[in-house]
Amino acid sequence: MESPRQFSLVSFIALLAYFAFLASAELHVREFVVSWLISYVIAFLFRHGIRQLRNPWADGPEYITQCPIRPGQSYTYRFTIEDQEGTLWWHAHSRWLRATVYGALIIYPRLGSPYPFSMPKRDIPILLGEWWDRNPMDVLRLAQFTGAAANVSDAYTINGQPGDLYRCSRAETVRFPIFPGETVQLRVINAGLNQELFFSVANHQLTVVETDSAYTKPFTTSVIMIGPGQTTNVLLTANQRPGRYYMAARAYNSANAPFDNTTTTAILEYVNAPTRRGRGRGQIVPVFPVLPGFNDTATATAFTNRLRYWKRARVPLQVDQNLFFTVGLGLTNCSNPNSPRCQGPNGTRFAASINNQSFVLPRRNSIMQAYYQGMPGIFTTDFPPVPPVQFDYTGNVSRGLWQPVKGTKAYKLKYRANVQIVLQDTSIVTTENHPMHLHGYQFYVVGSGFGNFNPRTDPARFNLYDPPERNTVGTPPGGWVAIRFVADNPGAWFMHCHIDSHLGWGLAMVFLVENGRGQLQSVQAPPLDLPRC
Ligand code: C2O
Repeated sequence: MESPRQFSLVSFIALLAYFAFLASAELHVREFVVSWLISYVIAFLFRHGIRQLRNPWADGPEYITQCPIRPGQSYTYRFTIEDQEGTLWWHAHSRWLRATVYGALIIYPRLGSPYPFSMPKRDIPILLGEWWDRNPMDVLRLAQFTGAAANVSDAYTINGQPGDLYRCSRAETVRFPIFPGETVQLRVINAGLNQELFFSVANHQLTVVETDSAYTKPFTTSVIMIGPGQTTNVLLTANQRPGRYYMAARAYNSANAPFDNTTTTAILEYVNAPTRRGRGRGQIVPVFPVLPGFNDTATATAFTNRLRYWKRARVPLQVDQNLFFTVGLGLTNCSNPNSPRCQGPNGTRFAASINNQSFVLPRRNSIMQAYYQGMPGIFTTDFPPVPPVQFDYTGNVSRGLWQPVKGTKAYKLKYRANVQIVLQDTSIVTTENHPMHLHGYQFYVVGSGFGNFNPRTDPARFNLYDPPERNTVGTPPGGWVAIRFVADNPGAWFMHCHIDSHLGWGLAMVFLVENGRGQLQSVQAPPLDLPRC
């Protein structure tokens, strides 16, 4: 068995080999140089969830905090991890490159500092991914041309393998040997591009102990729901009959839209599992788990509603900035409907927006650099704090409200402001769960519900005692979710839907958090090797 330390050594060597491959393949990806830091972690591309305090330069999203690393160039991400531990991950942050460029980023507590639960000896990263038979960049390019939805993936993967339900890959299905009676921790990461997933292990209960690098009050469940961008740590005890058990993931699909309805599997294998004798000799057939139906919003909601922070949380009680953001899809009308570039519904092009603003990435400079250098013309700071027009967000929305406006707009926040954002899903095109991710911050999820948020009655039911802390939260389909955080990290921070097709359609905005007083409350100077635009 590998100990965590051996695992990180093995994965480190594997990653180095992977990097060498990427470099030699001259992919148009952000390059990277591995660098050891004051702390015990390695630097990569965009580190999803690392707070990068006062250091947006190490955050990674292209045209938000830096320009992309061109082929042949390099950029060393140097950063310090402050007060964070648990499961995060890293991925490319340029178009759809993260389909293949991603990995786990695990932060162990300081030596000698305890876990709030009894930590198993073994730790198993479970990276859920999405697989296209075609080059994902071509899939994206085609969708960008036609304006229609991108093709759905052809398979999901567990640690890179689609598993036993595919003849071509059966021999390489990932297997996890386990000792009878042993407890292990699974660090489940949804690195998929476009799909929330249900995940379950046949006959075994899962005890949730952490989400998005924040500990939770432990609770036991047979299935978890995990959105793109999210991580969930669960404990699993091998207390079943010695045998072989599938772990499996498949879609939670909340939208009225096509989706990849395949199932990915890996095998949990008791080391003392019996084998079959005589004819058909060999390993016994694994038991298959029961997974919820694709559109089982009740199960997804029941799961997320059980999450609680592990202790009393330091939730901001007063709110300085009360923001109300509608999030959802839209359609852009065409002067030439149904032409090759207008193949979306009724001859339109798909769009998405927050408060009717469909985000467009700048091209000449990154927002952070333009802000730091005082360069005008890259973005504006007039992002609306509330929807420009009020309507019945989850009702029957009139067609006149389906077309968002395009722009590159940021919203300014004062240093250390207490911020509340209510994210309200809309029924424009379709209601849907949108996994909303905020860079540079962890936030508390203080409330959620279905239908339209009611500012008079809903806040009374907020959990200000032990709400779960996250960096990515799903809006209930046709509902709302409220988050709170203290704006204590100056810089330009992207907030976006972690479904990459929605991100590409503009479901994003930027927070510009101003500096406080003095050096320790201000953005650091950019590194000298920051890629040039
Ligand atoms: Cu994990 Cu901006 O994304």
